[in-house]
Amino acid sequence: MPDLPPLPPLGPDLVGEFTRTIYGCTPPGGELADVVLQSREDGVLDGTADRLRHRATVRCPLGDLELDTLLHLPTREDAPVVVILNFDGNDQTLTDWPYQKIVEAGYAVLTAQYRQIEPDDPNPPTPGVRGLFPAESWGAVAAWAWGLSRLLDIAGTVDGIDPAGAVVIGHSRLGKAALWAGVQDERFALTVSNDSGCCGAALFRHPGGEDIEAITRKFPHWFVPSFAQYAGKEDELPVDQHQLLASIAPRRVYVCSAEDDAWADPVGEYLAVEAARPAFGPGGIGYHVRPGGHALLEEDWMKALAF
Ligand code: GCU
Repeated sequence: MPDLPPLPPLGPDLVGEFTRTIYGCTPPGGELADVVLQSREDGVLDGTADRLRHRATVRCPLGDLELDTLLHLPTREDAPVVVILNFDGNDQTLTDWPYQKIVEAGYAVLTAQYRQIEPDDPNPPTPGVRGLFPAESWGAVAAWAWGLSRLLDIAGTVDGIDPAGAVVIGHSRLGKAALWAGVQDERFALTVSNDSGCCGAALFRHPGGEDIEAITRKFPHWFVPSFAQYAGKEDELPVDQHQLLASIAPRRVYVCSAEDDAWADPVGEYLAVEAARPAFGPGGIGYHVRPGGHALLEEDWMKALAF
């Protein structure tokens, strides 16, 4: 065990502290107004799944947000759903993700491209969902977390999805968003972060990898502006990320790390899991570290879903 400065204790009501310090306030609301089926292919993936594309309209106080979703639905029986945002568009996931194995493990998967919810840009040419609510202070990570909850709303309108046992997964910056969604939305039975690193599952107080100075310089739009005041002052932060994981208890959490992903600090992720463990019942929190680098691989998917 490396020597760490004392970690802030586990305790009740840390969500407000994370809201104020890092992610910002996710406003209530954003109502699903419409979910329109765009296309349906039955019996894809060797007959194991149906592939449905929807266009959803989410009504927000200052306008509507449109989302294009891709759903793989097991043909055999009602299935719990995995919701996950993707980086490069819904079609790219057809090549990148092991859909057939996931479906054979009994899960439906619903995804949308993350920039449809909020651009990933400190000065976006067009605003995302944060522009559709009256002035609130929330960062892009919180906006993507909001989007993950809207994906779960959309899943709730589709026949063949069992609303119990919903899973939220995210990789890297979207792993940070998955954790914040899992904290805030109690409908998620399991929250999975993959290589989520700084402001995700990694402890700030474990030196190594990305720090607050680096993340707030390059990605100021991800967090509340005042978070940058902690650059170089990790020890003064009122929170640390084991508390974020613990805030999901008694619902379940699984953290995936990769040995060569030094920037995401796999050791800091492991230490956060261990420090959070007392908040969970037996089997409430799980962890793996696999060989290799920064990526969401089949091994990550299958170990998380087996958990
Ligand atoms: C950058 C960033 C990380 C982030 C990653 C990603 O490396 O510094 O915090 O997790 O991008 O999203 O791929």
